[in-house]
Amino acid sequence: MSLDIAALRGQFPILSQSVRGKPLVYLDNGATTQKPEAVIQAIDAYYRECNSNVHRGAHYLSDEATARFENARQSVADFINASREEIIWTRGTTESINLVASCYGASLKAGDEVVISTLEHHSNIVPWQMACERSGAILKVIPLQADGSLDLAAYRALLNERTRIVAVTQVSNALGTVNPVTEMIRDAKAVGAVTLLDGAQAVSHFGVDVRALDCDFYAFSGHKLFGPTGIGVLYGRKALLEAMPPWLGGGEMIETVSFERSTWNRLPYKFEAGTPNIAGAVGLGAAIDWLQAQDRTALAAHEAALLRDATTRAEAFAGMRLIGTAPGKVAVMSFLLDGAHPHDVGQLLDQQGVAVRTGHHCTMPLMDCLGIPGTVRASFSIYNDSSDIERLFTALEKVKSFL
Ligand code: ALA
Repeated sequence: MSLDIAALRGQFPILSQSVRGKPLVYLDNGATTQKPEAVIQAIDAYYRECNSNVHRGAHYLSDEATARFENARQSVADFINASREEIIWTRGTTESINLVASCYGASLKAGDEVVISTLEHHSNIVPWQMACERSGAILKVIPLQADGSLDLAAYRALLNERTRIVAVTQVSNALGTVNPVTEMIRDAKAVGAVTLLDGAQAVSHFGVDVRALDCDFYAFSGHKLFGPTGIGVLYGRKALLEAMPPWLGGGEMIETVSFERSTWNRLPYKFEAGTPNIAGAVGLGAAIDWLQAQDRTALAAHEAALLRDATTRAEAFAGMRLIGTAPGKVAVMSFLLDGAHPHDVGQLLDQQGVAVRTGHHCTMPLMDCLGIPGTVRASFSIYNDSSDIERLFTALEKVKSFL
């Protein structure tokens, strides 16, 4: 299959507009990705053709809504090589991690240890701080090396028989570092710890196989995977999900209810109280089906080429400092311009139609560790091309002359 990026980009209607009088250059894909027609149409068709509640109605529309909702769950299961009952719909990565920190975290005891890393997003820090606060467990943090990769020797030294949970990101949102998670999971298992991967920044860049990774929990969001906002996934190993107490209480998650006691529904419904985000699930299923029909190996090579091009230009750009240069990172370029605040750079880029994210990227402890207030982050996706990089650097030359 040969790659036609112009044709692929043409499937994303939002990208053909001009902003501030300039053709849009969208380089904020780490924050959220844009949506192809296939996803927009699947959501539109759901509301036009079969909007109804799932698993409840005794009528055609409900049957059809349930079929589309559950087909989407099967698409997710196939996408990460899990079984249907191990796929729980959530609002996104943040909710998925909170679910594990609350429900699996309920088994933590004083003196137990939870290991996270310096690269974590706030959503993989704060829920564990809360779980440790509740239980008296201790939070340990894997340190960082100068290039933005984790110090694996220090990680191994942190592991011991008290380590109950290792929760790490597969890909850093702020720097693009890809962590060696297979190795890290193996080390965690050797001391009997349960593992959780934050896959929010990974799933749009490369294929994920939870069985091959051998992780216990895996979390990701729909909107970073060309799907809608407000829908995400928690994968959990069946035996662990079965042993965990439920999350929210309400309809759907129960088998029986009396005023004396309630019993829980089977997986995955035990963790899905209330009417779910049906249109969101359908949209995410469509995004996954769309993505699976692309040549993902070629798209990953395309993204890697974009990063190489951007990095070469950055290295030749006087006054630009790259933050995070770990080998094998995904197409995320975080940087600073000498003497310029990241927010000012972002604003001046925006005036030229170039969208990036600036600031701490919800990784304040990482920024503290790096000794900087934040960065400018250009994060690339499959529909970006070399003209976007050209426009970014032309705009940065202008920024430099303004400042
Ligand atoms: N976590 C998202 C980002 O990195 C919002 O921008």
